[in-house]
Amino acid sequence: MGASAKKPIVLSGIQPSGNLMLGNYLGALRSWAGLQQTHECIYCIVDLHAITVPQDPAELRARTRETLAIYLASGIDPRKSLIFVQSQVPEHAELAWILGCHTWLGELERMTQFKDKSAKKKSVGAGLFFYPVLMAADILLYQANLVPVGHDQKQHIELARDIAIRMNGMYAEKFPGPSQVTQNKEVKEALPLFVVPEPFIPAVGARIMSLQEPTAKMSKSDPIPNATVFLGDSDDEISRKIKKAVTDSGTEIAYTGEKPGVKNLISIQSAITGKAPDEIVASYAGKQYGHLKAETAEIVVECIRPLREKFKGLLADRGELDRILKKGADAARVRAAKTMEHVKEALGFLA
Ligand code: TYM
Repeated sequence: MGASAKKPIVLSGIQPSGNLMLGNYLGALRSWAGLQQTHECIYCIVDLHAITVPQDPAELRARTRETLAIYLASGIDPRKSLIFVQSQVPEHAELAWILGCHTWLGELERMTQFKDKSAKKKSVGAGLFFYPVLMAADILLYQANLVPVGHDQKQHIELARDIAIRMNGMYAEKFPGPSQVTQNKEVKEALPLFVVPEPFIPAVGARIMSLQEPTAKMSKSDPIPNATVFLGDSDDEISRKIKKAVTDSGTEIAYTGEKPGVKNLISIQSAITGKAPDEIVASYAGKQYGHLKAETAEIVVECIRPLREKFKGLLADRGELDRILKKGADAARVRAAKTMEHVKEALGFLA
């Protein structure tokens, strides 16, 4: 990574809270490997976020390694990118507290993901409410410029931007940067505390919907059978799930909000093949839902198969996975400590 220090910084993460699925891949993970050519990339496995809802410890451990194996299978290279587990870098939780003291309650109350996740629950942990602040800490800790995510994370990134802008305004003057001599005068230019990040959301694939309830997004933790295509599913399982996908009444194949099931299958095809939705619709003139499902199944099977095969191979070498994570966490802590040093100085904490 050393020579690429001037490249813009990318940061993203996935929760090891369930098996990774098609939405995670098409909405986020798929763009991560390519960004390694042009950016300095930091990819995190966000286990502190996963425990905002109850997790079985043995499963969490296994899924954390599985998430790494999927990262690697999708082309993320530990020699090019920093890959680590969030809980192994304590500065994430430390910065989250500080950011939380600069975040308004009303801002967190407006988060739609919190509203959705807490709506049907009798009691909700405070961590679920605080979750977007921890996400802001993940991003701001590494001074990330770009955050590649699916559509559902956009509001969280906007919050991270608002916190960064607010704290830059509050502390910039109290935290002068290195001296610069301009026109024979020594000037200390104020340095912003944080880079203000931008979201990077793909034009297609950023909102893959449930196969059984196509008005709700596809999710790792959806209890409804056949709603989610997992990246570990066999060819037959993938085929079966897509062929059972809920479509809509009528027979016409159209890309419209009135036919969310059909629209979802077209979006999936479009995200994988790169063809425009209109072109896909035109290719089904006079055909039926059965054709659309069969071809979508084939396209998804071909997309996931190489990923699954690589992933299974990588998972077999646990020692190597743990070595990658250890090295990643050590390097991440060095970078995180740098931001924390600036933040603490700006806030007035003793060194
Ligand atoms: P998570 O683990 O829920 O999802 C990981 C990534 O997958 C995207 N995604 C989807 N994209 C398209 N269609 C879907 N149905 C779909 N479901 C999920 C998500 O948008 C995400 O990009 N809070 C984050 C994790 C996180 C993070 C961060 C991300 C923590 N810290 C810092 C970026 C930067 C989350 O829960 O993602």
